[in-house]
This record gives sequence, C-alpha cells and structure tokens, in this order.
Amino acid sequence: LANGLGMTPPMGWNSWNHFNCFINETLIRETADALVSTGFADLGYRYVNIDDCWAEQNRDSEGYLVPKKSTFPSGIKALAEYVHSKGLKLGIYSDAGYLTCSKKMPGSLGYEQKDADTFASWGIDYLKYDNCNNGGLKPMERYPTMTRALMSTGRPIFVSLCEWGDMHPALWGAKLGNSWRTTNDINDSWESMVSRADQNEVYAEYARPGGWNDPDMLEVGNGGMANDEYIVHFSIWAISKAPLLIGCDVRNMTKETMDIIGNKEVIAVNQDPLGIQAKKVRMEGDLEIWAGSLSGYRTAIVLLNRSLQPSPITADWDDIGIPPKTVVEARDLWKHETLEKKFVDKITVAVGPHSCRMFVLTPMHNQNS
Ligand code: GLA
Repeated sequence: LANGLGMTPPMGWNSWNHFNCFINETLIRETADALVSTGFADLGYRYVNIDDCWAEQNRDSEGYLVPKKSTFPSGIKALAEYVHSKGLKLGIYSDAGYLTCSKKMPGSLGYEQKDADTFASWGIDYLKYDNCNNGGLKPMERYPTMTRALMSTGRPIFVSLCEWGDMHPALWGAKLGNSWRTTNDINDSWESMVSRADQNEVYAEYARPGGWNDPDMLEVGNGGMANDEYIVHFSIWAISKAPLLIGCDVRNMTKETMDIIGNKEVIAVNQDPLGIQAKKVRMEGDLEIWAGSLSGYRTAIVLLNRSLQPSPITADWDDIGIPPKTVVEARDLWKHETLEKKFVDKITVAVGPHSCRMFVLTPMHNQNS
C-alpha cells in the first residue's frame, strides 16, 4: 500500500496468541514498558497491537465504537498517548464484517469512515482488519472501503489485512494493505507452524517493501514447542520477510525466549532493505534449503531438518543462485560466528532433528581476477 509504511516487515507485539480475549489497559501498558526495558524496542519491536475484544458489544447512540469500560476504563486515546510517550506505536483490531471473530464486539462493515476517523483521532498507528461474520460479501466489496477511509484521515496507519488466505490475498493485497495473512490461524505446535510456513512460501514473489505476506504471528515463548523448534519458527519467519509480531507475554520471558526473539543478526535478515522473501530452493524428503537474496550481494539461507533424525544438509551454489566457483564466507547467525573455513560451490553442515542452521553467505573478492 502506497502509504509510506512497512518498507521493511513490521515488528512488535500482539495480544492474541497468548492472551486471547483476556486483555486490559494495564497489560498493554506493562507490555509497552517491557518492550522498552528488555531492549526489544531498540531492536525494532515498536508496534504494540491490541487484538480482538477491546470494545463494548454495542456502539454508542451515535454509532461510535466504545472501549470496554471494565477493561479499558481510561480509553484508547490515553493508552495511545502512553505508548507514544515510550517511543512506541499503538495498533488496534477490527473486522470487515458485522461482528469480530470473537463475536464480543462489533465489526466495521458499514462504519468504515466513522471507525477510521475514530482510530485516527485516538492516535492509532496500525489496524489489523479481520474477516469474520461478513454476510457473504467478497473481500473486494469490503476491504477497499476501509483502506480508503484510513487513507482519507491523513494519519499514516499500517494496514494489516487478515483474510486468512482463502481468496489468495497475495494477488490483490498490495493495493489495499501493508501485509496480508496467507494462512489460517497458527497454534503453538510444530505441525501448525511448519504448515503455515509452507502455505506462505508459495506467494514469495508477491512480497516487497510496503507489502508483505503474513503467515500469522509468532508463538515463540508460549511453551508448546521445543527450543530448537522455536528457533526454526523465528528463522523461517525472518527469512520469509514475515511480520515479526511477538505473541508471548513479554513481561515474563525466559532467557531462551529472549535469545531467540532478540537475535539481532536474524532480525537484520528480516529487515534487509531489499525485502526479498526467501524460497525453498531444494527439498529432499524432510531436508530443505530456503534461500533469499540480501543487499550487498549476500544470500541468507536456512537449512531445515523436518525429520526426527539428525542429518547433514548440503546447499549447492547452483540451487541458491551463487555463481559457480565463487568463494564464500559463511556467518552462522545462531552461533554468532564467522566460519574460518571458506566455501566453494557448496556448504555442508550437520542439522539436528526439528532444527535448522541459518547463515549469511558473502562472496569474497577474488584478488587475481
Ligand atoms: C481471527 C484472526 C486471529 C485473531 C482472532 C480474534 O481468528 O485470524 O488472528 O485476530 O480472529 O478473534
């Protein structure tokens, strides 16, 4: 979407994966505080996004959305001011239908301009726009109205389309949003995570600065996967230029979780200015190579072992698009070391079960040529 936003994938936090409908203004404020005190805000995690269930079941007599009095008594504007005072941005949620997915609050269908104006007046920076209870109307009959309404407010608001991939939003999302969901909801399991990665990969060509494929939010730190599996989750999301929206309780994270979400080198791959989404360039059974170009003639690769046995994996220059005979330096993004050995034509490494290795490959200048 040509609103100047999302030139790299958005980074931040969203309430849904961990808290579901159990949210309130204290949680949002404490989350903002925690993003700052952990240093995550400085790493780029700036959006604090409130998901479903923040509003009263009914609009007021003039048709305006009303923040739920029992859980957001100070209102959203005050919350936005607080979040902004921390150098962060506030996101909110609505639905291109009559009711949101929880059915606990109204959707914006038919109220697009009113709600867009309300969000802008509160100081909202990001809207996640969901797809439930839409009366059978097609996305094209519902989504453009909200995008136009948001643009007409004059406030830059990141537009996150949440259509779940049914009508191939990658094909039309870039005109209407800064990101579009390519999948159904993720849950905190290996199977769910890798299947979303696969569904999202198909649309790699459509990602670009200003518009990103969205395989759903992160589950890292929620406890359902092993640490190595969460490393796979974060690596694949990063190389796929997916939004990095933390979905755990950032007020109570383990060191393991912080080391994953806080990995600067992996974040740098996600935030690379070229904005090229990696593709699977080779699959052999459960062994896969994902690769994508980075700025500076570099290439990011993830060597993924989906099996339950450890295995060596080889990435050939041929498959990842590096010219033959090129001498390459390899940086291991999880071990934080540059390998002493230089590589020609291929790189082979050992990969554990349900694990991955992630490297940035940099061609070395050949002094003799
Ligand atoms: C849908 C979305 C989720 C979440 C819930 C809230 O299922 O896909 O990400 O926003 O609605 O009810």
